[in-house]
Amino acid sequence: MTILITGAAGFIGHGLAERLLARGDSVLGIDNMNDYYDPTLKQARINDLSERFGDRFSFSRVDFADHQALDASLGQVDIRAIAHLGAQAGVRYSIENPRAYAQSNLVGHLNMLEVARDRRLPMVYASSSSVYGGNDTLPFRVSDRVDHPISLYAATKRADELMSETYAHLYRIPLTGLRFFTVYGPWGRPDMAVWMFTRDILEGRPIPVFNRGEMKRDFTYIDDIISGVVAAIDSQPLDDGSLKPGGSKAPHRLYNIGNNRSEQLMDLIAVIETACGKKAELAFHPMQPGDVYETHADIDDIARDLGYAPTTPISVGIPRFVAWYRQYRDL
Ligand SMILES: NC(=O)c1ccc[n+]([C@@H]2O[C@H](COP(=O)([O-])OP(=O)(O)OC[C@H]3O[C@@H](n4cnc5c(N)ncnc54)[C@H](O)[C@@H]3O)[C@@H](O)[C@H]2O)c1
Repeated sequence: MTILITGAAGFIGHGLAERLLARGDSVLGIDNMNDYYDPTLKQARINDLSERFGDRFSFSRVDFADHQALDASLGQVDIRAIAHLGAQAGVRYSIENPRAYAQSNLVGHLNMLEVARDRRLPMVYASSSSVYGGNDTLPFRVSDRVDHPISLYAATKRADELMSETYAHLYRIPLTGLRFFTVYGPWGRPDMAVWMFTRDILEGRPIPVFNRGEMKRDFTYIDDIISGVVAAIDSQPLDDGSLKPGGSKAPHRLYNIGNNRSEQLMDLIAVIETACGKKAELAFHPMQPGDVYETHADIDDIARDLGYAPTTPISVGIPRFVAWYRQYRDL
């Protein structure tokens, strides 16, 4: 039996595939390898999995927004569960290219729900802390209202949660939505702050600091995130009419998955400077549209239900990222 991972060439998809393969599962990864960021990195992640795990890892290049191509790529594979992590990510790019979000995150999410419905499969899917928009009651709780997204990216992620609720209600498919909070670590994403700051510091370029650095983020280390995703795959929500986190009586639950600790941006920069052994030159810019000032996850629900317990502070995780980055870039 195989676990299907969408977005397997992505940062979190690669990390999940690695963990599942290492414990003996078989994985079918799908990804369209789009060029939102350097596809060489995506290919390197796929190569890493193929080289280390041989034919227990198979990969198909397909766009899951194209339902016919998606169905053809899955063929007769005996799938046990779906981890739907593929999406058009990034808050800022949703201002430049909104249609990419409608395709991958709305049409694509519906297509994955249809696969789950057709094959009667449980599915864990990626949502985002961005659904909390400009909420200013911290920490963010899954029971908070999330009706005011401030980017199209956030609106599509919230729409994914709502579509999932309908499918869980109508077709009784076990679904789990995970609201990720700023994930970082080895094999990370070049469009995110940790990668950009590391790159610019090592190359001696000024780093862009928005809102004079007055921002806080709940940074979560990749290994901690993956432990939570695996726990969610291994335990499905019951169809017993009980109230689930997120308020559903259908087999649909929503969890925050973060670090339960919000870091000042300037503290993050200091940790990266230490790991790089070099001071950053700071270039201050105003707040960017679509950005939020602070994120902070309440993780009580996922801690209680799935035993999720993040253990990696940025003082440990950032040096690991910088070491991986130097090796990957041959520095
Ligand atoms: N990394 C974070 O901090 C973070 C935070 C909140 C939410 N998320 C969500 O977690 C998930 C994984 O994020 P990530 O950081 O690994 O991002 P990523 O961009 O590295 O991975 C997503 C992958 O999905 C693939 N993809 C996109 N559209 C596709 C399509 N139509 N068909 C097939 N493949 C497609 C991309 O090529 C990419 O490899 C995403 O849903 C993202 O929105 C991530």
